[in-house]
Amino acid sequence: MANITVIGTGYVGLVTGAGFAHLGHRVTCVDVDADKIRVLRDGGVPIFEEGLLELVEAGVSSGRLGFEHGHSETSLSSEFYFLCVPTPQGPDGSADLSYLEAAAAELGPIPARSIIVNKSTVPVGSTRFVERALKRRDVSVVSNPEFLREGSAVADFMEPDRVVIGSESQEAAARVADLYQSLGTYVLITDPSSAEMIKYASNAFLATKLSFINAVAAVCEGVGADVADVRLGMGYDHRIGMDFLRPGPGWGGSCFPKDTQAMLRIAEIADYDFGLLRSAVETNERQFDRVVDKIRVAAGGVLVGASVGMLGVAFKSGTDDIRRSPALSVAERLIAAGARVKAFDPVAAAELEGLEMVGDAYAAADDADVVAVMTEWDEFKWLDYPKIASVMRGQVVVDARAILDHGLLLGAGLELVTVGRS
Ligand code: UDX
Repeated sequence: MANITVIGTGYVGLVTGAGFAHLGHRVTCVDVDADKIRVLRDGGVPIFEEGLLELVEAGVSSGRLGFEHGHSETSLSSEFYFLCVPTPQGPDGSADLSYLEAAAAELGPIPARSIIVNKSTVPVGSTRFVERALKRRDVSVVSNPEFLREGSAVADFMEPDRVVIGSESQEAAARVADLYQSLGTYVLITDPSSAEMIKYASNAFLATKLSFINAVAAVCEGVGADVADVRLGMGYDHRIGMDFLRPGPGWGGSCFPKDTQAMLRIAEIADYDFGLLRSAVETNERQFDRVVDKIRVAAGGVLVGASVGMLGVAFKSGTDDIRRSPALSVAERLIAAGARVKAFDPVAAAELEGLEMVGDAYAAADDADVVAVMTEWDEFKWLDYPKIASVMRGQVVVDARAILDHGLLLGAGLELVTVGRS
């Protein structure tokens, strides 16, 4: 069993740290944020993530998982150092590596033969960047991108489709692969640049797949086809697959928007015009506009003074994360066009000028000209729709996630406007 230090206790770092403790390794999680460490030491977790609290509790009570504010003698004497720090989007679209540089620079005193493992999503060539920031020839730097989805990050850690390891040193790669051995999963060992590219190519592909189905949904609306059946018919083809083929209000979250921009920037540096990906990003922006248009039509053609009840502000269900949420992209547009927006989300809260968060779905629908479902929370399928109809001023529900039952809404005297079906 190995001694591991994880730097950064965001959802990637915390899941990775608690996950490795579960696999039997001894893990110290370090963060510069004293508040986060206090919460963790008090037995809580600073983020809402399915199964994470239980995993952290189990790690702490086994004695294999600990938390520290800043480095200590323990955290600097491990064999492995996982860098799980944010790489936000810089002004030109490329990833901002300042957190990574600072985290690497602090590892100066680590023992010889240690391995630094970069899990943060970084531009191709960053393994070398970390090597330079570190100024140590007797340690290896390895790339090991994460593929964790928020909301199912614990399950994704325990049952990954693959583990990707990028290293110039076969020995270092084999030692990192050993950490995951008990998962019994497919391990791909490659060079650092290819490992870094795998992460960007995967996210760019998935974002493109979503833009594709959203575009198909728009065409379906025009020709009287039903995208739900089109998705099924396409998805049974194993080359296409059902996953990531659900139409929606457009994609968002903390990864896809920044990773697609970073990929475009990488392509530019490589002197390739990645028009396909640029178009996927533009299609996504247009998708937000299309949802706004549906709400405008439902409100009688004018948004000035219209009242919209929004159901969901999280960027997807299963998380309280609102970063680059499609719901907020749509809310911003509605507010800019003169509408008032009242929103309810079962776990997420948003602060946006002109947006009022309310305590339940019925309060959001109260006096609304239009109700719009923006996040696919299950509970929105089972609301008391006759009650929604009785508190609304208008009678149209715009279902941007295509999750509602048409018959249920009709029975409640409501009209349903969805995506991908006329
Ligand atoms: C993503 C990647 O999936 C993960 O591998 C990577 O490590 C981080 O980025 P995440 O940001 O948690 O994970 O979200 P994901 O579940 O991939 O969803 C991204 C967006 O696509 C969301 O806005 C979601 O609502 C939307 N989506 C997803 C759809 O609209 N339809 C789908 O069928 C799937």
